[in-house]
Parts: sequence; structure tokens; C-alpha cells
Amino acid sequence: MTRHAEQCALLSDRRVSADWMQPGYPFHSQFLQDHHEEGQFLTAMEGPEHLRLRRMIARPFTPRKVEQLRPTVRQVVDDHIDALLAGPNPADFVADFALPIPSITICHVLGVPYEDHDFFQHAIRTMTGSDVPDDAVNKSQGELYHYLAKLIGRKLAAPEDDLLSQLATERLATGQLNRHQLVMLVLFLLVSGHETTASMIALGTLALLQHPDQITVLKNSDGPEVAAAVDELLRYLTTVQPGRRRVAVADIEIGGQVIRAGEGLILPEEIGNRDESVFPGAGELDLRRDASQQLAFGFGVHKCTGQPLARLELQVVFAALFRRIPTLALAADLGDLPFMDDGLGYGVKKMPVSW
Ligand code: HEM
Repeated sequence: MTRHAEQCALLSDRRVSADWMQPGYPFHSQFLQDHHEEGQFLTAMEGPEHLRLRRMIARPFTPRKVEQLRPTVRQVVDDHIDALLAGPNPADFVADFALPIPSITICHVLGVPYEDHDFFQHAIRTMTGSDVPDDAVNKSQGELYHYLAKLIGRKLAAPEDDLLSQLATERLATGQLNRHQLVMLVLFLLVSGHETTASMIALGTLALLQHPDQITVLKNSDGPEVAAAVDELLRYLTTVQPGRRRVAVADIEIGGQVIRAGEGLILPEEIGNRDESVFPGAGELDLRRDASQQLAFGFGVHKCTGQPLARLELQVVFAALFRRIPTLALAADLGDLPFMDDGLGYGVKKMPVSW
């Protein structure tokens, strides 16, 4: 199903399940199919248990809580722009800017020590990347799992003001979560908070460099225009790709077709985001359009928990970047950039920039 309306209808239909234990679930890789019984991620659960876990992690991601982080995120962004300007020119925009910003932010929220970033960023990239052999994915996931399990032990003994400590003391210590469930939840959050937002920062910057006329919208405003521009960049780029994966648990008639119980569904939101009936001229990047119906964060009960945080990071980045570095330019041919397009998301591994 490719149209926006049908994707929204199916993603909020109770006859459609995200539970990957259901027969017929369309795994997007052989690796996941082979390993799915080892542990379930939030996105692959359904029903009361999904809602219970989702509620447990919700606290730091409410719009109000996220808004309190704005000064911290501004500082992180400003410091990285300062460091970029003081460092070698050209620089790699991904390693020096696009990745550290979400990494530092999610570490701050979760309570993961950022000084360990070389280790966990490498593990995450291996787990979410393309062309990675299965045993390397397995090894990285195992190492990250053990790292987080140890960290949870430390938080339990000496809690701090972060989500990991809160979950350890309020949920693990009380038996509402077992250790495996808690590690899987935190692992999922750490992974989700990294490459998704980093790709949006890098590809969003690249898209704007290709559309210099649009940059004025960002340079002239720090208010609602930037929030709307971020929605449009999310729509235009839709970086989390292989489609929402679901399975029908009853027969469903939709769009003149019948989906039979047990059939897998792939809902490509990057196509829903180009539906001309919702976004006229959808192939064009237009930062002034109303893109609030965009589907880049998914739709329905699994809609991205971290979206207020991701939005905040993107707003702060795009409000500051071109104002502070008006001469920012790509320092390579577009065709030579190493894009990642067959992993869990679309992104770019390296992006040389100059100013
Ligand atoms: C631009 C950045 C991001 C994009 C494009 C994005 C995209 C998505 C999408 C498409 C889903 C829906 C999955 C589905 O329905 O199957 C999702 C779910 C989720 N995302 Fe994000 N995400 C981003 C950033 C983040 C951040 C910063 C966090 C915070 C840690 C986060 C945490 C989550 C969680 C926990 C879920 C699972 C929700 C559930 O299944 O109930 N995401 N995200």
C-alpha cells in the first residue's frame, strides 16, 4: 500500500500487527528472521505489553521534558560549530558534527557515559549498517548488550538523574522488568537515538546545500518556520526506510483489495510522503509548505517515541548551522559520497565540507 491515506488507515488498524512472532511477518533481512526469537524490540511488539513498555520509557520524551533540554542541545550544537570552525578545513561533517550531536544528547537522556562513544558508535553502525556480515552484527549486538547490562548494575548501585537509573530503580528493582527486558529496551533506545537523527542532520544539510534558495527560510527565523522546515526535510528525505513491517491478523478490505489474514504488509512511508494528494509538488523540497502530515516518524501506536527529541535536535541544528557558517559547502562531488541505502535507514557515511 503506497498511498498516504491507506498507510495511515492500516497503521492504526487493530487487524494489523507489528508482532514479528506472528506467522507471515515480512522480515526485512534474513538475519532478523534467523534471530528474531532471541529478543523482541519495541517496534516488533503489539498489545498491552507493548503499551506497558512504551509508557515506561515515555517520561523524558514528552514535549515538555524535551523542551527543557533546548539550552543543553543549543550548547552542544554551538560547541560543535566552534570546533568545526577552529579545526581543519575541509572536515568530515558526519564524524565531526552530524553524529556527535544526537550521540551526546541521547547519552545525556539515558545516562550512558559519552566517553565510551568510540565503542558504542562503532557497535551501532555495525548493527544498523549495510553490507555487514551476520557474525559481525551478532558480535556487536552482544558487546553492546553486555556493556549496557554492566552499566545497569552500576546505576542500580548508584542511581543518577537519568532514564537508565529511573528504569533500574523503579522497574528492575521492583520486578516490573527483568534484566533482559531492560537491557533490550535501553539498547533499542540507544540505537534509535543515533543513526536516525545523524542521517537527518547530514542528509538535511546536503539537501539544503543543493537548494541554496531555501536556506534563507532558516537564516531569517528561529521560530515556527524552522519547526515547519524540519517537518518538510523529514518528509522529503524519509531516512528510515525499508517500510513499516506488519502482518494482517484478519482479512482486511482496503483500496479495492483484500489483504488476507497472515499476509505480510510493507508500508513504504517514503512513498506515502510523496503522495501528491497530500503534498502537491511532492518531489520538490519546499520548506514553506505544511508538511505536518509527514510519515517519517511512522503512524499509529508505534509512532516514534523519540520524535520530540529528534525534532528539537534538528530545529536547533538547522536554525544555527547556516547562520553561523554561511559559506558552508560540499567539498566533494555528490556522486562520490558514500551513501548507505540498504541498511535500516538511508544515510551518508562521510561528507567532506568546507567553508
Ligand atoms: C530523525 C530521527 C528519527 C526518525 C526518522 C525515527 C523514525 C522512527 C520510525 C519510522 C518509527 C516507527 C517504527 C514502526 O512503526 O515500525 C520509530 C519508532 C521509534 N523510535 Fe524513532 N526515529 C527517530 C529518532 C528517534 C530518537 C531520537 C529516539 C529516542 C531514543 C527514537 C526512539 C524510537 C522508539 C523507542 C520507537 C519505537 C516506538 C514503538 O514501537 O512504540 N527515535 N522511529
